[in-house]
Amino acid sequence: MEKSLVEVDGLNAFYGNFQALKDISVDIPETEVTAIMGPSGCGKSTFIKCLNRMLETIENARIEGEVRIDGKNIYDPDVDVLEIRKKIGMVFQKPNPLPMSIRENVLYGPKIHGFTKDMEETLEGSLKAVGLWNEVKDRLDISAFQLSGGQQQRLCIARALAVEPRAILMDEPTSSLDPTSSKRIESLIRDLRDIYGLTVTVVTHNVHQAKRISDYTIFLYVGELLEHGVANKIFKKPKRKRTQKYIEGKL
Ligand SMILES: Nc1ncnc2c1ncn2[C@@H]1O[C@H](COP(=O)(O)OP(=O)(O)OP(=O)(O)O)[C@@H](O)[C@H]1O
Ligand SMILES: [Mg+2]
Repeated sequence: MEKSLVEVDGLNAFYGNFQALKDISVDIPETEVTAIMGPSGCGKSTFIKCLNRMLETIENARIEGEVRIDGKNIYDPDVDVLEIRKKIGMVFQKPNPLPMSIRENVLYGPKIHGFTKDMEETLEGSLKAVGLWNEVKDRLDISAFQLSGGQQQRLCIARALAVEPRAILMDEPTSSLDPTSSKRIESLIRDLRDIYGLTVTVVTHNVHQAKRISDYTIFLYVGELLEHGVANKIFKKPKRKRTQKYIEGKL
């Protein structure tokens, strides 16, 4: 097994009295792509929100258990939440650029975190990493909303990269995009791992996508972790009947 970046240990998550995650323990290997699969409502979004303390932004939500990054529980009282969210960035289903220019979107994070690095370098590097630089370098000051959906999603990934995270969490990042834009995001996810050494965790309920992009796969089912491990193995010969059915699209 690879070295893990995140260790989840006995994680329970609740919305009021409803338990959305049940006793999840799993490791997320460092510098690998992990896909989180499972039917709608099984807790995929809830799970990734627990990994960078986003869950507590939802009223009524509560967690038990530990999530350790580099061995330190991110729910310890002395932990700086902003620092965690900087280390573990997030990209959502629908592209959500800030109502600002392309430049300001990318540099927003580095500015609030007081980065002292050359901002123009950060801007160019982040946009190049997502393959957007050549498309936008002559119009960095136009509103981000003038970009296409696929470009906006890549901009959101650039914004996450600009604060130099260790990992990026993505919640169905291609489900609102056309097939061509989706393919671009998929190959970008592989590049983030291969070229930039990032740990990427992607929620998807597209089994084919999970197969194409993931090194490790986690299968959730009604709040429980049914199966996890090396993606090849899971897709070839899952241990559980339910996983098999899900992979075959019969669930
Ligand atoms: N804010 C909330 N308040 C109450 N219940 C919630 C809330 N958010 C999610 N839930 C419930 O928690 C469970 C898990 O939801 P979650 O959004 O994590 O599922 P998911 O696997 O991401 O589903 P989908 O594939 O549809 O996005 C569901 O039963 C859902 O109804
Ligand atoms: Mg979801």
